[in-house]
Amino acid sequence: MKSRFAIVFIVASACSVMAADPTSAATPPMGWNSWNHFACKVTADDVRAAADAIASNGMKDAGYIYVNIDDCWQGDRDEQGRIRPNAKFPDMKGLVDYIHSKGLKAGIYSSPGPKTCARYEGSYQHEEQDAQQYAEWGFDYLKYDWCSAEKVYQHSDMIAVYKKMHDALARTGRPIVFSLCQYGYERVWRWGASVGGNLWRTTEDINDHYDRMSVIGFDQDGLESFAGPGHWNDPDMLEVGNGGMNHDEYITHMSLWVLLAAPLLAGNDLSKMSQETLDILTNKDAVAVDQDAKGQQGRRVAQEGPLEVWAKPLADGSVAVGLFNRGESVNPITVNFKDLGIRKQVQVRDLWQHKSLGSFDGSFTVQVPRHGAALLKVQ
Ligand code: GLA
Repeated sequence: MKSRFAIVFIVASACSVMAADPTSAATPPMGWNSWNHFACKVTADDVRAAADAIASNGMKDAGYIYVNIDDCWQGDRDEQGRIRPNAKFPDMKGLVDYIHSKGLKAGIYSSPGPKTCARYEGSYQHEEQDAQQYAEWGFDYLKYDWCSAEKVYQHSDMIAVYKKMHDALARTGRPIVFSLCQYGYERVWRWGASVGGNLWRTTEDINDHYDRMSVIGFDQDGLESFAGPGHWNDPDMLEVGNGGMNHDEYITHMSLWVLLAAPLLAGNDLSKMSQETLDILTNKDAVAVDQDAKGQQGRRVAQEGPLEVWAKPLADGSVAVGLFNRGESVNPITVNFKDLGIRKQVQVRDLWQHKSLGSFDGSFTVQVPRHGAALLKVQ
């Protein structure tokens, strides 16, 4: 096991790109998105039900604010070229007003191409009009998904294509969080902030299986210098509660995402959620790691085969630490404090159990189940 931690974090802060407005998305956006559970079946009622759930089940208090409609809301364009919602969304303004009445914010989705990924109407050659329409409806967030832009643009056009929509959004005068979705092409983390992106997908799509989630999550190491307040790497939305992973695997998913300072967009059916799922999503100690004011994305600090130790420095000088067992049987995992740049005695707190484990010198070891994780705060 090898320590690169202290040097890497000094370099990381110096390299951070700071072009995006840091007053918008100062911490990673949190909320819900319709895609992972509802996909193209989503209706306005599903979105209302999600808003109702967030406002009443503790998620809003935990910081989940955005209620985001993904693909499949679009109808055709009218004679002036204005985009109209389809029959599943009969009153978009009413829906957004409803979300706002709950003290929440609303998100919408489009593509710079002629069609979205699900072949609904995209914003190609209607960017200005669409941005104005989203602002008129009252939206606060746009996910802009490359999809069929592949057919009408080159990859070398990508920066200009995303900037075009950012500028159109800016001209509406309404603050709208801008979420780039182009699967990490062209090393988007290097230029996403310069086109006004508040977050950018770094990978292809997640799904509700441990193998896919873990490949995406554990592959994020090395991108930490590109994230910070106002501009975040986005390893895709949460699958917690969708049923394809067991409890330990969802604990890994959430632990890893909070250490990555990832946007936390729940992707399950919030109106039919188990207490166990809600507890994972709303664990305040875990969410606080994600939302920490320092805005420093964590990284891998040690690895021994399938056992990994990740760390994220926090604003109060402490360090959040994840001990991950990617192996197929229970294993003890040790964090050596020198890998965190710490040589003194420390207090260790277990963030999933909400309990202090005492003070330790040199290292701390815990048994971690197959595909599971421990999430600690070391102070
Ligand atoms: C792409 C995106 C997904 C989702 C779908 C919708 O695959 O990466 O997150 O938005 O399109 O069609």
